[in-house]
Amino acid sequence: MSAGSGHWDAELFRREGHRMVDWIAEYLDGGNRRHPVLARVAPGEVAARLPTSMPLGAEDPEAVWRDFLDIVLPGVTHWNHPGFMAYFSITGSGPGVLGEMLSAALDVNGMLWRTCPAATELELTVLDWLRSALELPDDFFGFLTDTASISSMLALAAAREAADPEIRRRGMAGRSDLPPLTVYASDQAHSSIAKGCLTIGLGLEGFRAVPHDAEFRMDVAALARMVAADRAAGRRPLAVVATVGTTSTTSVDPVPAIAELCAAEGLWLHVDAAYAGSAALCPEHRWCLDGCERADSLVFNPHKWLFTPIDASALYTRHPDIFRRAFSLVPEYLTTPVSGQVVDLMDYGVQLGRRFRALKLWWVLRCFGLEGIRERLRRHVAMAAGFAAWVDAAPDFERLAPAPFSVVCFRARPAGIEGEALDRFNMELMERVNASGEVFLSHTKLDGSVSLRVAIGNLATVESDLERCRQLLEESLACLAAR
Ligand SMILES: Cc1ncc(COP(=O)(O)O)c(C=O)c1O
Repeated sequence: MSAGSGHWDAELFRREGHRMVDWIAEYLDGGNRRHPVLARVAPGEVAARLPTSMPLGAEDPEAVWRDFLDIVLPGVTHWNHPGFMAYFSITGSGPGVLGEMLSAALDVNGMLWRTCPAATELELTVLDWLRSALELPDDFFGFLTDTASISSMLALAAAREAADPEIRRRGMAGRSDLPPLTVYASDQAHSSIAKGCLTIGLGLEGFRAVPHDAEFRMDVAALARMVAADRAAGRRPLAVVATVGTTSTTSVDPVPAIAELCAAEGLWLHVDAAYAGSAALCPEHRWCLDGCERADSLVFNPHKWLFTPIDASALYTRHPDIFRRAFSLVPEYLTTPVSGQVVDLMDYGVQLGRRFRALKLWWVLRCFGLEGIRERLRRHVAMAAGFAAWVDAAPDFERLAPAPFSVVCFRARPAGIEGEALDRFNMELMERVNASGEVFLSHTKLDGSVSLRVAIGNLATVESDLERCRQLLEESLACLAAR
């Protein structure tokens, strides 16, 4: 212990820090492959090995480290593993991990500009770099939140504020002058949009799932009909959420047509590009943000496909004033001599305290550079294209959706198995592959049928991992078919 303080002394920190950094360096450099990607513990197994109360006295850090290795690590599902191909595969990259460590060391709370000017200014600058690299309009104001779910919820609350400034004072309950508000997103949109609706008081009845077309994109004609029907029924359409890169198939809603409708109907347009937004950093994929220049708000997640450790979600809006109207509430103790002259990020959302998230993102952007990021994204897209080509050529597998980015939706299609039996077969197939510990796949349902997904997004994933995944699928299919 440092003399006169409760801190560890520098020597102890250095020793423990080196141990940890050495372990991380090895983990990121292939050590992760020694662990089964999907944790093999039963529910309650980790907790059962932990003491039921905290230690009374200080423990030896060596013992804490040993328990991390023996108890915690076996219960970890290794998202930062080259075989992690479930959900949206992600990467906590070296620069991102270091930025995160520094952020913890500084431990600033960037709630106000004054409480850490660099946190606010670096955040606004980094978000502006990304805005410009994504070719979004100059007047898009961007800041960080923890997740896309929160970003979209904040955007919907801003839309609500724009629609009826009285809500701030009077709320919505029991008002005869305020018709029920409705939000529209495709039936392929992430569940966070419906969750946002219920959180801001619209209820699930205020959420409208618009049907999709043959390629899992929002059917804009159906959207127009639903908006008209709601108006005719005395409801008040509020906002449309377009998805660029849906969770199941990564389909891209027709944003230009949706933007046109929103303009004609006076609706807020929010774009959820949580996963695919990063792809737009490559000129050949920029098409996916076409029309987004007309959006009122847009979210994309650097913690999804921009090699930044979770959590970091970039929320842009062309109406920062409306966000401030929706959320700013400044008690005396949070006023400063520069209040009103600077950006105080607490004014743009619900939370007061804010981590210095921009630091890890800055580290990633600088250490990889735009060209380096593009090259990494392209590698993932190319591996996905190779996997899709294999599915298309394999007699016992079939593709279930287009694969515009780095996710492939497919299923096994052995002869003679149909309907629910085919769904069960695919679920069993996936569990068998996942039991290998070498890869981890997840599933979804597309038009009522089970689809498996291979999602590529980890920097350590290489072609031989995809080859192994194909082998495991073929071997497991052969085993199941032979029963
Ligand atoms: C399209 C889309 N939007 C939102 C989310 C939610 O992201 P978060 O976990 O950052 O809330 C996801 C998660 O996969 C997603 O795919």
